[in-house]
Amino acid sequence: MSELGPVAWPPAPIGTERLVLRVPEARDRAAVIELLASPEVGAYIGGARPRDELERTVPEVPGRRPGLFVVDLDGALIGTVTLDRRDAERPGHVLPGTAELGYLFLPDAWGYGYAAEACAAALGWFAGVFPGEPVVLCTQTANSRSVRLAEKLGFTEVERFEEYGAEQWFGMRSPDAPSA
Ligand SMILES: CC(C)(COP(=O)(O)OP(=O)(O)OC[C@H]1O[C@@H](n2cnc3c(N)ncnc32)[C@H](O)[C@@H]1OP(=O)(O)O)[C@@H](O)C(=O)NCCC(=O)NCCS
Repeated sequence: MSELGPVAWPPAPIGTERLVLRVPEARDRAAVIELLASPEVGAYIGGARPRDELERTVPEVPGRRPGLFVVDLDGALIGTVTLDRRDAERPGHVLPGTAELGYLFLPDAWGYGYAAEACAAALGWFAGVFPGEPVVLCTQTANSRSVRLAEKLGFTEVERFEEYGAEQWFGMRSPDAPSA
């Protein structure tokens, strides 16, 4: 993944019906470690990372980079939504440097539509700063929650391929696609 490119950052916090998308702060560190150490979160993305390693390596303010939003519910992190540039050498037949959406939510926050609400807001922000650009998304075919979310957000399947020893669902969202 490479960074998103020239963009005014940080943006003002983005409010949705129930959530706020904002940049990370030091108070998010413990929740970021929970996210990365969770076996459920890691199930289809290469596994959980050891907690002691995370305690050593996660910076005081975790994940501060253009395109990374903390999803905040009532003042606490429940997940992250990212927009990065897909590396050209990865599979997925799109132009090099196409933007890619990623999402990680704490298991207690699954099943309420929070990920859909947050991703739709992040895609709206992206469309405002990079008008007319498509966004891609890659997720294991077996990750049914993630594929359902991608389709709800307006991504349509382009191809499937094998990567990291698993079949991947690769989708694209055109700039004018409707979403949840
Ligand atoms: C992928 C992931 C973000 C999906 O989370 P999610 O909560 O299932 O996604 P959504 O926000 O779309 O919520 C959908 C669910 O909320 C329910 N829901 C409840 N209230 C809702 C509301 N007000 N609006 C919308 N949906 C609502 C829906 O019915 C649906 O339930 P179901 O799963 O029982 O069908 C989450 O599973 C996750 O973080 N996984 C680990 C990380 C990962 O694999 N990321 C993919 C890498 S690209």
